[in-house]
Amino acid sequence: MNLAELNKVAQAMVAPGRGILAADESSGTIKKRFDAIGVESTPDNRRDYRELLFRSSEAMSKYISGVILYDETIRQNAKDGTPLVKVIENSGAIPGIKVDKGTKPLPFCPGEVIPEGLDGLRERLAEYRRLGAKFAKWRAVIDIGPDIPSYAAIMTNANALARYAALCQEGDIVPIVEPEVLMDGDHDAERCYVITEWLLKTVFEQLYYQKVALEGMVLKPNMVIAGKKAKNRASVEEVAEKTVRVLKACVPAAVPGIAFLSGGQSDEEATAHLDAMNRIGGVPWRLTFSYGRALQAAPQKAWSGRSENVAAAQRAFTHRAMMNSLATRAQWKQDLERKAA
Ligand code: 13P
Repeated sequence: MNLAELNKVAQAMVAPGRGILAADESSGTIKKRFDAIGVESTPDNRRDYRELLFRSSEAMSKYISGVILYDETIRQNAKDGTPLVKVIENSGAIPGIKVDKGTKPLPFCPGEVIPEGLDGLRERLAEYRRLGAKFAKWRAVIDIGPDIPSYAAIMTNANALARYAALCQEGDIVPIVEPEVLMDGDHDAERCYVITEWLLKTVFEQLYYQKVALEGMVLKPNMVIAGKKAKNRASVEEVAEKTVRVLKACVPAAVPGIAFLSGGQSDEEATAHLDAMNRIGGVPWRLTFSYGRALQAAPQKAWSGRSENVAAAQRAFTHRAMMNSLATRAQWKQDLERKAA
C-alpha cells in the first residue's frame, strides 16, 4: 500500500470548492430514474445521459473532484469512441467505481440487509484500477423502524465496510466508506442522531481492527435528519448542528474529508444543509458533497432523453454543482437559486 498516494487522492477528492458526482446508479436504479422522465433505459441512452454530464466542462473542471461510476459505465465509450473514463480525466476529475453488488436480506433480521460483493473483490479492484479507477465506493444501508436496526445489522454492515476498505487500500484504491442511515421512516432527528452515532462508532472500530489507514479514505455518511414521514421536520440549523456534533463525536481528525450523500433530500435542502454545516466550521475534516439525486434530478428532468435538450441539462447540472461548491465554502445564498430560476 502506498499511503502517501492514497492520501493525495483522498485530499483531491475533497479539495476546497469541489465535491463528488455520484453517477453510479445500478441498472435497476437508473431505470427507475429514466422511467420518471419517460426514457427507455438502454445502454446507449445511459451512455448519452452520462456523457452529457461528464462533458459539462464548467461543472467538471471547477466544481467536481471525482465521479463514481457503475461497472457498465467504466467500460463504455463516448459517442466519438473516447472511453468515458478518459472524458472524465480530461475534464480534470478523478474516476471512481461502485464495487458493492447491492443488498440482500440479512438472515433472521427482518427488514434488514447486507451488501454482497466481498468475494472476488481483490481481483475486481485490480481490474478497475487498470480501467482507471482511483477510488471506490461501498454503500451499507441501515433502516430505522420500531424494532430496527438490530445489533447484528450494525455489526455485520460495519465489518463488511471495513473488509472492503482494507482490500481497497491494499490495492492502492481510496475507499469511500458509506454507512447510510436511511431517511425513509417517521422517526425524528434525535433518533437518527442516536442510530448514526451507533453506526459510525462501530464502523470506526472495525476500520481500526482491520488496519485501515484513515488518512487514505473518505467517509460518506448521511446527515442527521428526520425521516420523510416524520410529523416534525428538523430545521436547517438543527440538521447542521446535530450532524456536526455526531461527526465530532465519532470521526477521527485523521480522515481527510467527509462527503455527504443526499439520500432523498430535495436539491435545495441538500445544498442548504451543507452550507449551514460549513458555516458552523471549526472541524478537522473538509465537509463536501457526494450527491446522486441532489445533483442529477434537475439535469435529468431538463434532458428527458432529447438531444436538443443537452445544453439545458448541462446548464441545470452546472448550476447545482456550483451551488454545492458555494456550500462547501459557506457562501451559498438562497437568492442565488431564485436568480437562476
Ligand atoms: P444520493 O445522493 O442520491 O443519496 O446518492 C448518493 C449515493 O452514492 C448513494 O450510494
